[in-house]
Amino acid sequence: MDSTFPVLTAGIVVPLCAWVFYRYRNQPRSKWTIDEKTQQALRRYVLMESTHGKPDSVLHTFREYAIKNSMIKRMLFTPDQDAVKQSSSLIVLVLGTQCGYSAIRVLSLLPPDGKVYAVEEEDSMAESAEEMILVSGFKNNQFKLLCQHPVNAIHTLHSKFDLVKVDLVLMDFQSDGYLEGLKSLTELGLLSPGSLILLNNMGPLVGKDFVGLLEKSVHYRVVNGCQSLLKVEYGSQAKKN
Ligand SMILES: C[S@@+](CC[C@H](N)C(=O)[O-])C[C@H]1O[C@@H](n2cnc3c(N)ncnc32)[C@H](O)[C@@H]1O
Repeated sequence: MDSTFPVLTAGIVVPLCAWVFYRYRNQPRSKWTIDEKTQQALRRYVLMESTHGKPDSVLHTFREYAIKNSMIKRMLFTPDQDAVKQSSSLIVLVLGTQCGYSAIRVLSLLPPDGKVYAVEEEDSMAESAEEMILVSGFKNNQFKLLCQHPVNAIHTLHSKFDLVKVDLVLMDFQSDGYLEGLKSLTELGLLSPGSLILLNNMGPLVGKDFVGLLEKSVHYRVVNGCQSLLKVEYGSQAKKN
């Protein structure tokens, strides 16, 4: 073997990999969650100020509070109406529910026989999200809230709650779990051609790497990506297990 190879590996390749890893880990990321105190203050405000049973009023009250608190403003993810329509959504999975804003928004756009599976890992946030969804007027048969890590929840929903298909998935949790989430959805055969996945809150570097990976995959087509939101469609070439 060429004697310069080990020198090259130790002297250049290893430090270079370490530098890339360091930059990747330490890239500026937007803060993607709120503390419990803020969450509870938001909850109280919505309970007191919104018209119960009216999802539009509850969503409006969330936004009203967000004007006073910029941290909450950054958290509220408003899945666009088009995504719900484009995938003719009936079954929607919200991974990273937090205060419940996006889950309520989706429920308000779905037909009466639609269902939302909302996943939130933090106990108190999950409890509060469930209350907000019920306060909006939705019934227990229209949604299911699961308190688990989003990736584990995909498996639980499939094995214990007979979830066999999802039309729209919103990923709005820690973005380094997105790839594993997509892998689980694909391996369990939960996506079908035309299913849409919205991936929120990707840093620019994570987003770029992700798009690169998806473009190489036969399963997915990147529909568009702007301001850290990536819209992906599951493709017809997909192989199911
Ligand atoms: C931006 S918020 C979601 C906002 C929500 N979709 C909405 O519109 O109201 C980010 C989510 O990531 C979740 N999260 C926090 N730490 C996490 C972790 N280590 N792993 C996975 N998810 C986490 C939070 O509980 C929260 O649900």
